Parts: sequence; structure tokens; C-alpha cells
Amino acid sequence: MKKVTAIYPGSFDPPTNGHLDLIQRGSKIFDELVVAILRNPEKDPLFSVAERRLMLEELTGNFRNVHVDTFDGLTVEYASKVKAHAVLRGIRALSDYEYELQMALMNRKLHPELETVFMMPAEQYSYLSSRLVREVAHLGGSIAGLVPEMVEQRLREKLDPAIKLQNHRKSKAGRRR
Ligand code: PNS
Repeated sequence: MKKVTAIYPGSFDPPTNGHLDLIQRGSKIFDELVVAILRNPEKDPLFSVAERRLMLEELTGNFRNVHVDTFDGLTVEYASKVKAHAVLRGIRALSDYEYELQMALMNRKLHPELETVFMMPAEQYSYLSSRLVREVAHLGGSIAGLVPEMVEQRLREKLDPAIKLQNHRKSKAGRRR
């Protein structure tokens, strides 16, 4: 039987529980799912592509059929490169639909054989976005329950380098013991 591969492209800056929810759903219906981080030189990201890749690899390590990769250029070209049959995208609310439809139809124009599959994340993540997570974290609000604990920790370290130094010292002391 034909193996169906999908790519799940995005910025993932940072990965949220909404992304993970979608990855979990996607991993159930596709044989292979490639989480593809866009290397976008125009954006000024909070986390580097390498940092996002490491986080996503750690977070998806328990899914046998999920892999993490990075790409630049057109999504459709990357999809052809990895022989994907579909692009997975999440739709949270009606407001996402217009942009997602535009993107899906443009991708179809560029690569008619590639299907876009929309999935809805769990309702509790319907208002969640990486941009809002960055903003709330920057302003000192709680993002508990919105991102995995590991991402929460990395965000804290990123926004307060003193915490990173403290953790580094603690882990060094732990290794010496
Ligand atoms: O997580 P995001 O930022 O909503 O992801 C957007 C992404 C990466 C899927 C989109 O910007 C994209 O596909 N970029 C690659 C360039 C491309 O193919 N552009 C034409 C899309 S119609």
C-alpha cells in the first residue's frame, strides 16, 4: 500500500501546545509526518532555527513516524524534495481560514498534486499563537499550560539570561557531586 507523507510547515517560534496537538493528530492519519521549520532570513526570530529544531526534536521524540527538518524557499518545492503528498496546516478559528485558503490555493496552483489538509487543534488552544506566547512571556505573564514545560523553561532563559546562568551553574555543581 502507498505510504502517505505529509509536511507540517511553519515558524514554530516557539513550538506551542497547539502545534503539538496538531502533530499528534497528524501522526495518526499520515504514515510519515515531517515538521518543517521555515528558515526565514527576513524575520527576526526569538529562537534560532537550530534552537527550534532541538526543541521540536525533543518534543516529538516519542512519535515513531514524526521527523523534524528545516527548509527555505517554497513550501511546494520542499514538499517535492521529500516526496510529500500533503501539507498539514491547523485552523484555529474562522479568522485563520482566509489566509490559509489563500496559501492552500496558491500552493495548489504551484503544485496541483499536493493536497493541503486542515486539522483543528483542541478547543483549549483555539486562541493560542506563538506570537501571543512571545508577547505574554516578554511582559512577564504566565504561559503555563500553553507551551510544553521545556519550552517554558527555554523562554524564561531566553528572556532572562540570569536564569540561564543560574541553571548552568546548578547543573555544573550537580555534575561535580
Ligand atoms: O507558522 P507560520 O508562520 O504560519 O507558517 C507559514 C509558512 C511557513 C507555512 C508559510 O509562510 C510558507 O509556506 N512559507 C514558505 C514560502 C512559500 O512557499 N510561500 C508561498 C506560500 S503560498
